[in-house]
Amino acid sequence: MRGRSQSFLVRGSDGACYVAKFANNPLGNRTLINECIVSDLLTALRVATPDLAILHLGDCCQGREELYFSTNTRESIVSGLHLGSKCPVNPDAVAIFDFLPRALYSRLGNLADLGVVFAFDEWAAHVDNRQFIFARLKGSCFTAWAIDNGMCFGKDWTLTPNALYASPRCFDIYSYCDLEESARRGTHLIEALPAAELYAAHRKIPRDWFGAGDDIALNTMLETLRKRQQDLVAIHEQVAVARELRNLASRAARSRPQRSLAFSDAGARREK
Ligand SMILES: Nc1ncnc2c1ncn2[C@@H]1O[C@H](COP(=O)(O)OP(=O)(O)O)[C@@H](O)[C@H]1O
Ligand SMILES: [Mg+2]
Repeated sequence: MRGRSQSFLVRGSDGACYVAKFANNPLGNRTLINECIVSDLLTALRVATPDLAILHLGDCCQGREELYFSTNTRESIVSGLHLGSKCPVNPDAVAIFDFLPRALYSRLGNLADLGVVFAFDEWAAHVDNRQFIFARLKGSCFTAWAIDNGMCFGKDWTLTPNALYASPRCFDIYSYCDLEESARRGTHLIEALPAAELYAAHRKIPRDWFGAGDDIALNTMLETLRKRQQDLVAIHEQVAVARELRNLASRAARSRPQRSLAFSDAGARREK
């Protein structure tokens, strides 16, 4: 599949299709741990995101020889436990898209949830572009599922309370929904999340993915995340102020006379 984790589309023994992200992938195992935690949190916020599963890759799995990382060399993928992001629809029957044309945004059934994802990314210090996948579930309506959450928590758990991170790079669809309103709703939902939700995923994550010191580092990060939860409104207000200043600046730039316009005016006077 596209992307830096070098994932593969695989079929599980349950017959379902998964995008498999493998242990020891080029982005590191912390990204897999992040995926598990974020999946639980987004689900608790009632945001559409694919179900995750822990996949067991055996030595005799069909097509085993085709699974490898392409780094400088061909690096084999070890047998054991890996992460599967379940395709929300059967990809043999229904097309799954990484992007929707603008003309179809109005047909997104869960458009109002996108701001919740925006607020989540601010809270969780997502340092990568926010990605969604899109598919038509029934009728002419599309659904957006939030994917690719490995780079949350400053990627390497370098969260600091109250720090403002570069907000997720502007995704065109955000300009289409009522972002302020749904992000505000997201902020309140995040604030109301019980602490237990933050720690719930921890127990389900395979121990093989943890390196030395990761347990302590993860706990420290989750505690910081909990502190940031209380300050989210403040963070959000700062972001809103910054956005407003940016809008004012670009409006001012637009109303300033353009050089080419001044030149043609002068040209018109000369012609008289
Ligand atoms: N659950 C899923 N169902 C269908 N396609 C998916 C799913 N998860 C990811 N993809 C596809 O796989 C690609 C790679 O996944 P992504 O999570 O973006 O990994 P990376 O970290 O490598 O960018 C995505 O761009 C998307 O096309
Ligand atoms: Mg990606």
